[in-house]
Amino acid sequence: MKHLLSIEELGLEDARRILDQAAVLKRERGMPPRFRPLAGQIWALIFSKSSTRTRVSFEVGIRELGGDALFLNANDIQLGRGEPIKDTARVLGRMVHGAVIRTFAQQDVMDFARYSGIPTVNALTDEEHPCQILADLFTFEEKRGTIRGKTVVFFGDGACNVAASWVFAAARFDFSLRVAAPKGYQPPALLLARAGGDVQCYEDPEAAAAGADLLYTDVWVSMGKESEAAERLALLSGYQVHRGLVARAKPGALVMHCLPAYRGKEIDDETFEAHAGTIFDQAENRLHAQKAVLAQLAGSRMP
Ligand code: CP
Ligand code: NVA
Repeated sequence: MKHLLSIEELGLEDARRILDQAAVLKRERGMPPRFRPLAGQIWALIFSKSSTRTRVSFEVGIRELGGDALFLNANDIQLGRGEPIKDTARVLGRMVHGAVIRTFAQQDVMDFARYSGIPTVNALTDEEHPCQILADLFTFEEKRGTIRGKTVVFFGDGACNVAASWVFAAARFDFSLRVAAPKGYQPPALLLARAGGDVQCYEDPEAAAAGADLLYTDVWVSMGKESEAAERLALLSGYQVHRGLVARAKPGALVMHCLPAYRGKEIDDETFEAHAGTIFDQAENRLHAQKAVLAQLAGSRMP
């Protein structure tokens, strides 16, 4: 595995190895480090959008694996003034050992990977958020065992990056995915065709929740969509995750949120706090899962 650009392109064997390795790294965190696959390496984090979890988990993870991290706000480098991504990539490719990129266009991450020649990680684009979904799968499986054959429901903006990564994960990991969203916010037909797998779209959130193992939501206004906020809040208001939906799911169903959460919008405060244990484990697991990704990109496996 040379890059992590999308769940769509991530093979099952690599994904499984990442999840297994994440469990070991989580267990061993805090013990004297015996695994430093990034020793002597400097990784660049190039971010064009805000971040708390992704930035901190990568900066900490890179250092814990023996490397060093260089955070570059895209607006502070010439990229923000129009220097082409392929030129930025060719410069950084000669100076750093890997790159973690959060930006708008998926093509930019793909171009960076191609022109830099160094391992490149998609830390969120408008199209996918693969690091998030790896941590989510890890969190589900550490609490409930294999996700194979289970039913996951995504509520809200079913056309967003996180939803798309869930769509690709469904076929790869062999679970059923329901997307509860109004028309216009469901995954595009082309994407569903590309992904295959058992993915059903619902307009009725209650019907979607019935018997589910995991209820999942994300913000209604993703980064870059702020000008559509009023319309989105109005159209998505019926898709809030609340106690009534949880009651329709399987007893003991998990509730997850990739965060940041907007209480009273995609989830109500009561439901968020009732499931905060899971949601913050999910946030913590970003660190363990991404360390496993980095180790795999560095070509190292834990002994
Ligand atoms: N979930 C997630 O990616 O969070 P950040 O935007 O804070 O990185
Ligand atoms: N869909 C959200 C995810 C944030 C982690 C966004 O793109 O803003």
